[in-house]
Order: sequence, then structure tokens, then C-alpha cells
Amino acid sequence: MEDWSARQYLKFEDERTRPPRDLLAQVPLDNPRLVVDLGCGPGNSTELLVARFPQSEVVGLDSSPDMLRKARERLPTCKFLQGDIATWTPEPATDLVFSNAVLQWLPEHRPVMRRVLEALPRGGVLAVQMPDNTRESALVFQRETGESGPWRDHPEIKAAARKDLPPPEAYYDLLKPVCSRVDIWHSVYNHVMASPAAITEWFKGSSLQPFLSPLDAGAREQFLAAYTEKIVGAYKPRFDGKVLLRFPRLFIIAVR
Ligand SMILES: C[S@@+](CC[C@H](N)C(=O)[O-])C[C@H]1O[C@@H](n2cnc3c(N)ncnc32)[C@H](O)[C@@H]1O
Repeated sequence: MEDWSARQYLKFEDERTRPPRDLLAQVPLDNPRLVVDLGCGPGNSTELLVARFPQSEVVGLDSSPDMLRKARERLPTCKFLQGDIATWTPEPATDLVFSNAVLQWLPEHRPVMRRVLEALPRGGVLAVQMPDNTRESALVFQRETGESGPWRDHPEIKAAARKDLPPPEAYYDLLKPVCSRVDIWHSVYNHVMASPAAITEWFKGSSLQPFLSPLDAGAREQFLAAYTEKIVGAYKPRFDGKVLLRFPRLFIIAVR
């Protein structure tokens, strides 16, 4: 997949930063020594961690050079590292690993969660939020568009759709054996979008990327037009012309 675009992702910064606020509000720690923002993106979630834990060392880790550049500009006093979460292990003093809107991108995130938790000290916390929206129309249309255009036999497009998340029970059974407490919940947001086309813009910064990055400029435009046509048909304007983007998300707080 091409590098993530921080600019595209930040077009909806307020909405995208609401879930990490809600996740952080449930983190049961006062003074963690080392806090790691796993998949820190452009630093929006890292900024929340710095504000909540001003005495702690806060480190951001991401694989994307563009995201890291933005994060360093935003928080010049924080340490940001380039790395792959799939092979990352926490240092011994890590009391909080925070990962907002990231782990769903890993082909196998469950073993990573378990491995990270096992490496945390007693009382250490893994806090995770992932979109649980693969059954929402906006995501179904991505798969349908991928399957119906001239690009449908492209191997990367065939593999572009995110799999459904496992149910909460699967996370509980995975994590509770190594945790004193596991709290799992869903929240469904209804983001107010300026128009149906804004929904396309939103997903251009996230789940549309794997569909678009294998295509040339012309095919991208064609893909986006076909996708937006479906969005326009399904997401009807409210009385003021705005549309609501229903967005279910899964939250997990696991305490070692
Ligand atoms: C949707 S953004 C989330 C940004 C931020 N945490 C937030 O709360 O908005 C996902 C980030 O995860 C990063 N990412 C995805 N897979 C990764 C991996 N295997 N290792 C490191 N970073 C990864 C991407 O580069 C991207 O910056």
C-alpha cells in the first residue's frame, strides 16, 4: 500500500479524534512512566496523551514517513519512531500502550495484542479502538465497487477489503487469561457530513486507500465516481442537506 496521507486523514480531524478521547477517558492510570501511541498517525492521538499525562514520557510509533513528519511538526518535544507494530515489543517501563484506529490494518492483530500485553508490567494497560464498520453501507460499497469495475481481477484490489472484526467474546477469551481486567464496549457515532461526497473524502483517508493505491490516476477517478454514486443513493440528505455517517467502533481496555 502507498504511504498514508496525513493531509487527507486530517480533513476530518475533529471527528477522527473523538474516539481516542472516549478511549482515553476510560484508561485507569494516573501517572504512567512510559506511554506509547502505537500507530500514532499525524499525532492527533499523541497530543491527547501528552495533555492527559504531562509528567510521562510519550512516544509515538508509526510506519508512515508522511504521518511521522506531521506528528513531529505538531509535537516537536515528543519522540516519534518509525517501525512496524507487527514486530514491536514494549520496553520494560511501558505502563500504557494506546492504539487508536490502527490494529484493524494488521492482517493478524490478535497475536500482537496478546504479545504486547504479556510484555507489560502488572497494572499496565493496553487501550485499543478499532472501526467495526465492515457491514456498513459505506464499506459494503467499497467491496462492491472493487468487484465490479475493470480493476476487479487486480490481486491487490481483490485483497483490499478489511475482514470483519472478531466478536467481543473472542477478545475476552484471548486477553483475560493474562489480564486482571478486560473492558470491551461498542460506540456507534453518527458523524455529520457536509454531503454524500464528503463520505468519499472521509474514506479516501482510510479504508479506500488499499483500493485506490494500485490504480493509475484515471482508474482512481473512475473508481471514486462509481463509489460515490452508490453513496449518493444510500446516504440521504437530512433537512439541512447534511448526511449522517453511521460508524460503529469497538473499544478494549485490558489491564495486565
Ligand atoms: C487511521 S491512522 C490512526 C492515527 C491516530 N492513531 C488516530 O487516533 O487518529 C492509522 C495509522 O496506523 C499506521 N499503521 C498502520 N499499520 C501499521 C503498522 N503495521 N505499523 C506501524 N504503523 C502502522 C498508519 O501509518 C497510520 O498512521
